[in-house]
Amino acid sequence: MYKMKENVFWTGGIDWDVRNFHGYSTPFGTTYNSYLIIDDKPTVIDTVKKYCAEEMIRRISENIDPSKIEYIISNHTEMDHSGAIEELLEYCPNAEIVCSPKGAEELKRHFKKDWNFKIVKSGDTLNIGKRELVFQQIPMVHWPDSMVTYSPHDKILFSNDAFGQHYASSERFADEVGLDFIFKEAAKYYANIVLPYGNQTLKALDAVGGLDIDMICTSHGINWRGKENITKLIELYYKWARHETDNKVLIVYYTMWRSTEKMARKLYELVELAGIQVKLVNLKESHISDIMADILDSKVLIMGSPVLNSRILPEVAALLMYMKGLKPKGRTALTFGSYGWARIAYKELESSLQEAGFNLPVDGAYVQFVPDDAELEELKSFIPIIKDALQDD
Ligand code: FEO
Repeated sequence: MYKMKENVFWTGGIDWDVRNFHGYSTPFGTTYNSYLIIDDKPTVIDTVKKYCAEEMIRRISENIDPSKIEYIISNHTEMDHSGAIEELLEYCPNAEIVCSPKGAEELKRHFKKDWNFKIVKSGDTLNIGKRELVFQQIPMVHWPDSMVTYSPHDKILFSNDAFGQHYASSERFADEVGLDFIFKEAAKYYANIVLPYGNQTLKALDAVGGLDIDMICTSHGINWRGKENITKLIELYYKWARHETDNKVLIVYYTMWRSTEKMARKLYELVELAGIQVKLVNLKESHISDIMADILDSKVLIMGSPVLNSRILPEVAALLMYMKGLKPKGRTALTFGSYGWARIAYKELESSLQEAGFNLPVDGAYVQFVPDDAELEELKSFIPIIKDALQDD
């Protein structure tokens, strides 16, 4: 039994095994968090993925007869949160499904059922006994339907996808697992899930900013308690939503015959010698979702690719396609690589980075076949460009 506060219980499901969450690498698994509030009108906030329904119902049953549930709040339709509503309704068929207007539309599209919906908008309240729950729509964090539920009685914000991370654990709070680690996972989650919706996230943060919160219960991973941790988390979300970065350079490359790698390593050496914080990532050995976490706080991305069949490498193209969707803004990109005879491939690299939102201030450094010492030294020309980009902050 996981008690969050008096009469508030975690009733979620833990997936210890999942290692890929629609393209996002989850080396530590994840959880789908559901909560039960026992009050005059027992209420469940969000459910779990369908395959965790039995686990959720077992956890609910440890605290209350599930037939007594009167409200099921669906903060967000995506199937990792509403996927077990049907199974729960088998126990409490008269329960009302509380959701946003878009939530009702989306739930109907998914389940083809006309459930007993209670549609709520921002500022609406729901009395469940001692508690008056308050709803706030936060569209696009993560879908058009998304909303959060606030319980002033408990000072808990049930934030759904916002502030989550993918981490399977028998502990429920960040301070139990390790704050630095969970903040890092929260950053990876933001970079891969929330990043395209910076403006909407800022509106959502402003909307919940005035609330007295001493616990954030998310729908994934670990929860947050304590004013200090919550303030830090919200400040980080503001920073990420504004696309504010650190004075960091990230070099990402793929190599076929080690020529592009030679250039990448020389660039690393030059940036390091310039006294700038820099990270070198071989795309062949790294997951694109981890690279996005590095891009989140890097001001400058230097990206290199060889040429294959007159194109950039498919693996590089996959990262670029992923970035185009996630739209990191306010960052600078420089490009490099080794080609044989089809230098035209680099137009694709450059235009894709621009489409993803990067500023490309200079032409890339491209070398035919194997770079010689002079060509490697010419990479020094990137250093003043990098310094300019870092000073822009
Ligand atoms: Fe965790 Fe957007 O669902």
